[in-house]
Amino acid sequence: MPLANNFAGLDLAREKIYELKIHICTNCWLFQIENQPSASSMFNERYPFFTGSSKYMVEHFRGMADYGVSLLSKEIVKFNVLEIGCNDGSLLEKFVLKEIPHLGIDPSSNVVERALKKGCTAQVGFFSENFSHQILQKYNKFNLIFAANVVCHINNIKDFFSGVSNLLAENGLFIFEEPYMLDVLEKVSYDQIYDEHVFLFSILSIKNILKEFNLQLIKVSRQSTHGGSLRYVVARNGEYEIDKSVYELEQVEKDYLMDSVDPYVEFARKCEKRRKELTDLLLKLQSEGKRVYGYAATSKSTTILNYCGIDDNLVLGIGDSTPEKQGTFTPGTGIPVISIEELREIEPDYIILFAWNHFNEIAIKEQTSPLKQSRWILLAPEIEVISI
Ligand code: TMP
Repeated sequence: MPLANNFAGLDLAREKIYELKIHICTNCWLFQIENQPSASSMFNERYPFFTGSSKYMVEHFRGMADYGVSLLSKEIVKFNVLEIGCNDGSLLEKFVLKEIPHLGIDPSSNVVERALKKGCTAQVGFFSENFSHQILQKYNKFNLIFAANVVCHINNIKDFFSGVSNLLAENGLFIFEEPYMLDVLEKVSYDQIYDEHVFLFSILSIKNILKEFNLQLIKVSRQSTHGGSLRYVVARNGEYEIDKSVYELEQVEKDYLMDSVDPYVEFARKCEKRRKELTDLLLKLQSEGKRVYGYAATSKSTTILNYCGIDDNLVLGIGDSTPEKQGTFTPGTGIPVISIEELREIEPDYIILFAWNHFNEIAIKEQTSPLKQSRWILLAPEIEVISI
């Protein structure tokens, strides 16, 4: 596999590739990739993903900020906030407006620049235990720590939680959300597996990590973002009451046998079936002379395109709203990325919706565009051809 976000020039022969191989640990049930490319090769000043590219996600993160505040112990009158992996400041903006002390950190300087422009206090850096000590030299411990779609990116998971534990105030809350293992198994959304996602978490696996740091899960809630995520609320042992949502969802995981290898082995079989379904469909459309394009050059699309062996013969181009991606080619498969406006001018016969997790937002947007006439191919929870 190439790096999922390496949208660049057309020099496939020189592209860095690595083996994307997955494991499930039979001690702690943590689903993980074996080899992660170096963090700096993925998260740097060229990182092409901006949270603000989805209005829905911006709304979602504003809601997450409010949710965190609502859960804080009523004894806390004044509080401060840390966001690990703050991207363009979409979540922290809420605290900027209310003049609440906060800090955002993110390893990619281009996204931090946007956060600074929104008035956030933010700095460039890879979060680690070591980094947490540097933060403590300048700031107090934090009452609220957020991380969204970040923890699963960090391969030294124990070092990460040790850093969080250093920075969490005694009665503080750490709220994070990540793509959820159970959703991936249920929807066969194997496109969640790529270099940046070292782990896919479940309650079972997260509990095992937390107990090493005297932290505990006090609440969980399923989210529709990223095709199915889980929001975890973490506190120090004994500081907050444990909500029944934790016990209930853990039981659902056990009922799905997620503490045995069976559902993961079954998942591998379903992925192969899904791959055949998609390639058969595209070959059939090609033989009928249909023009097939993609919508949204997501990181997830890199896994699908490379796993299924889909190149620019089968998919002629992919429209994406991110200016930084337009004019580049998909990693490993060389499909040109164009703007959404160009895609609308082309009026493809078929459009693969690679951002299937943003279906509602995109379907509403394209209701009144020429793309309404196209047939749309959805990738999860089933491969389906529909009109929007
Ligand atoms: P994600 O699935 O990793 O969040 O990536 C979203 C990508 O989809 C990003 O490149 C922007 C693109 N996109 C569009 O082009 N149009 C849209 O309406 C939305 C929501 C996303």
